[in-house]
Amino acid sequence: MRNSVIMLVCLLTTFSVLHFPQLAASRYSNYTFPDNFMFGVASAAFQIEGGWNAGGRGESVWDTYLHEHPDFTADNSNGDIAADSYNKYKQDVIMVESLGVKYYRLSISWSRILPRGTDNYVNKEGVNYYRSLFKELLKANITPVVTLFHFDLPTPFMDLGGWTNPVMVDYFEDYARIVFTLFGDLVKLWNTINEPHVYCLHGYGSDYFVPVLNFPGIADYLCSHYLLLGHSRVYHLYDKHFRPHQKGKIFLTCEAFYAEPKDKNNITDVEAAERVLQLRLGLYAHPVFSENGDYPETVRKRINELSIIQGYKRSRLPVFTQEEIKLLKGSSDFFGINHYTSALMSSCPMQENWPVPSIDHDLGVFMETDPSWPIYASDWLAVYPPGFRKLLSWITKNYGTKIPIIVTENGMSDYGGINDYNRVSYFNEYLEQLLLAIYEDGCNVIGYFAWSLMDDFEWRDGYSVKFGLFHVDFDSPERSRTPKLSAINFREIVRTKRINFDYLKRPE
Ligand code: GAL
Repeated sequence: MRNSVIMLVCLLTTFSVLHFPQLAASRYSNYTFPDNFMFGVASAAFQIEGGWNAGGRGESVWDTYLHEHPDFTADNSNGDIAADSYNKYKQDVIMVESLGVKYYRLSISWSRILPRGTDNYVNKEGVNYYRSLFKELLKANITPVVTLFHFDLPTPFMDLGGWTNPVMVDYFEDYARIVFTLFGDLVKLWNTINEPHVYCLHGYGSDYFVPVLNFPGIADYLCSHYLLLGHSRVYHLYDKHFRPHQKGKIFLTCEAFYAEPKDKNNITDVEAAERVLQLRLGLYAHPVFSENGDYPETVRKRINELSIIQGYKRSRLPVFTQEEIKLLKGSSDFFGINHYTSALMSSCPMQENWPVPSIDHDLGVFMETDPSWPIYASDWLAVYPPGFRKLLSWITKNYGTKIPIIVTENGMSDYGGINDYNRVSYFNEYLEQLLLAIYEDGCNVIGYFAWSLMDDFEWRDGYSVKFGLFHVDFDSPERSRTPKLSAINFREIVRTKRINFDYLKRPE
């Protein structure tokens, strides 16, 4: 194992020295990353593991839906084998180690531990898999940051309506109790839920994501509501019963692109941008991180009013009890944020393709990207580095600096290849904005995880777009992994705690 890391590091170094000799006058970032800054890389179980029915694993909704609807993904693919990390996890650990990062964020497949979703049957082989993986990481001096729920709900729960059903809060707590009990000696950093907004908006409020519930304006808010309650239940479970002896930390991860007013001098555009940030991020962050708790007042008011106008007897946005508000408030040790892109906002009461009700209609905002922001693959991912700094400042302005921010995902997609100069610049430029957010805007950002360790199954896009620092050959049975230029560059940033914009320059 040690030899393999040394070999990989040598390969990376030789490659960069031979092909990219240092230029005489390199341009560096003005600031350096703090000494104990948490550099890491991220992945998620369904996107890399494969082994969909190996070792007693049960099905998740993504398995079931894609087997029944093979044309749902852009390339008719599924997650049956993915990057085969179920078998290749030791190589994954070597890759993480070769980057020099000390943290690896990954998720547990609920169905691998509890094949039926419920805790009356625990799958020993699944438990052994994760224990071996965590031990391997610790041996390499890498701290696992483990997400409990990253989109892959066990299929049996869909008969109950998935996360629109409040009983999911109990089942999520049961699952978390098993996981804390079985792995809490090895894992000290827990991430409860990944991106409730993306999961609920796309999977419950539209047909874009599995479970394709497509019940806009209602199921998406129910899903958000119960996910938040599930998060707070699990936070308190850990806090009360596990933290005292396991001594770890636990937090929620939200997603946000930055919402920029299309015309900064137009007050309705400015308000539209703020509405988007409050509904897409504030809906989840306000109950947990604000001083008063609960949903943001402006969001509550708008959805209440629209619901009544639309003829509903009560608001489509469910209401927390006082007790729930209290339990949610402060229920996260870090502010986990995933950020990829930005968009321009202008006020717009209606678009032809918006269902009524729907989150789009509740927002009343037309979103577009600036033509000068490059898009390399995924149509939703326009590159606008300053949006990252602005988002971090928005979070700081709204929720203060007491709870440290960890960027749990950031990255960009292309169509593949190891000479990924666009990704090299993306990381350089986004990380520079992060430094500015820390040093010039006073944001308390303590960590950064690049998405992703390797090319993976990208949900609706299948394998057609690539986010990895490592290339994965999905045509080879070995799923062989090769470092891209972005891996070499990222490793150098981690090593020097500084960005050298000329370290890997695109040949003229
Ligand atoms: C996030 C998600 C990841 C990954 C990424 C890039 O929303 O958490 O699983 O797919 O987007 O598409």
